[in-house]
Amino acid sequence: MRRILFHTSILFLSSILFTACQHDIITVKAGLSLDPIVVVTPPGGSPTTPAGGTPAPVSDTICFNTDVLPLYVSYCGSAGCHDAGSHRESVITTDYGHLMNGIRAKNATSSKFYTIIGNGMPPRSSPQMTATHIALIKKWIDQGALNTQCTNVCDTTNFTYAGAIQTIISTNCGGCHGTKPGSANIYLGDYASAKTYITANTSVFLNAINYASTIVASKRMPPSAKMVDCKIIQIQKWIQKGYPQ
Ligand code: HEC
Repeated sequence: MRRILFHTSILFLSSILFTACQHDIITVKAGLSLDPIVVVTPPGGSPTTPAGGTPAPVSDTICFNTDVLPLYVSYCGSAGCHDAGSHRESVITTDYGHLMNGIRAKNATSSKFYTIIGNGMPPRSSPQMTATHIALIKKWIDQGALNTQCTNVCDTTNFTYAGAIQTIISTNCGGCHGTKPGSANIYLGDYASAKTYITANTSVFLNAINYASTIVASKRMPPSAKMVDCKIIQIQKWIQKGYPQ
């Protein structure tokens, strides 16, 4: 039954992909369960585990909320593209339910929202996902495309650019601020540019990533969902400690 449903939805999806209507009514695939939600133990224990503390077993599970969804939000879900408001070609990539319309668990090659990456989407003029991003999405699909929800899955003692920050920015911001000029003329695609922008706009930047209640919703970054606290802590430490490379 699931199989039939799946094929029907792919047929439906392919037909609408070619009709390119921007304003179709969107519904989440009927009967799709958003479960299972899998809570993964953070690899480094609590985010404050000091360096040199007891090493915790590293989980190999890909976190949907911190690793996969931000890629689809950033590289596909900009306003005007595949966010809930614009839903171009009836595709929405900013939440698990809609994303599963184009993902087939454990079968990346049959997953339209995987195979299209680098083969037409994102458009050639837009920032492209890296090979690492694409491999991570494939691994998530291979693991069952679960709605894995992770909190504090990072080591906040690691806050160098090469060790943590570059990946956080490219995953969460890269699709919009990863190529010049970048959304709102903000380019964060390399160390020097990120440092220069944040140095000159520290409070704007911190308010944006902290979803400050004092700023309008459209300026909260990344759009759609706030990053988990430990990633925000890593970025804040990187800034406080003078942007270590
Ligand atoms: C889906 C696209 C998208 C993603 C992903 C995204 N941004 Fe933005 N960003 C925008 C747009 C569009 C604006 C302009 C918003 C406005 O002026 O209302 C913006 C504005 C900003 C601003 C200026 C806010 C202000 O108050 O003027 C900052 C800082 C920023 N982004 C940082 C980030 C960071 C850091 C990330 C990742 C953690 C990120 N953005 C992810 C699209 C995005």
